[in-house]
Amino acid sequence: MKTAVVYYTMSGNTKLIAEKVAEAVNADLIEISPKNTYPDKGFRKFFWGGKSAVMGDKPELLPYEFLPDKYDTVVFGTPVWASTFTPPIRTFIEENKAVLSDKDIAVFMCQSGAGGDKAIIKLKKILERDTLKAQLILVDPKDKPNSENDGRIEEFCKALQ
Ligand SMILES: Cc1cc2nc3c(=O)[nH]c(=O)nc-3n(C[C@H](O)[C@H](O)[C@H](O)COP(=O)(O)O)c2cc1C
Repeated sequence: MKTAVVYYTMSGNTKLIAEKVAEAVNADLIEISPKNTYPDKGFRKFFWGGKSAVMGDKPELLPYEFLPDKYDTVVFGTPVWASTFTPPIRTFIEENKAVLSDKDIAVFMCQSGAGGDKAIIKLKKILERDTLKAQLILVDPKDKPNSENDGRIEEFCKALQ
């Protein structure tokens, strides 16, 4: 059985970690994107993304391929938006709730400051899980490389196996 890394990224930080994790544990990478993309610059970026996250929006996604029978573990990768996980991840979970129930779940989140802890609690709530197989929060790993990140990613990947 395999692991799937399901992620959404706006500006590449989450993508970088998704690729590292997938390579380390030989996982399939599944990038999800909303059909109507969010503004990614200036005030509009924070206003519309933040509003959508706070409102619990479930934006329609572009078609993606997720064959649940292939996987025993699903890793979610998401930026933190307004102290929660991103709306495309909410849509994916909603669309796949039944098939996710027998999977091990792990999550990594990218943030610029704070809110990841709260976001993990919210993610666990919609997944109806008390615990996750592994969890990791990193600070803008692409934009602000940090020598400690590699060790933390390695530890996260070990917990997945
Ligand atoms: C709409 C929006 C809301 C955000 N809210 C938070 C937040 O609550 N806490 C935080 O630390 N970073 C916040 N950020 C910053 C991102 O989580 C952070 O830069 C992340 O690394 C971006 O990941 P990406 O490059 O994969 O899109 C926000 C960014 C956006 C666009």
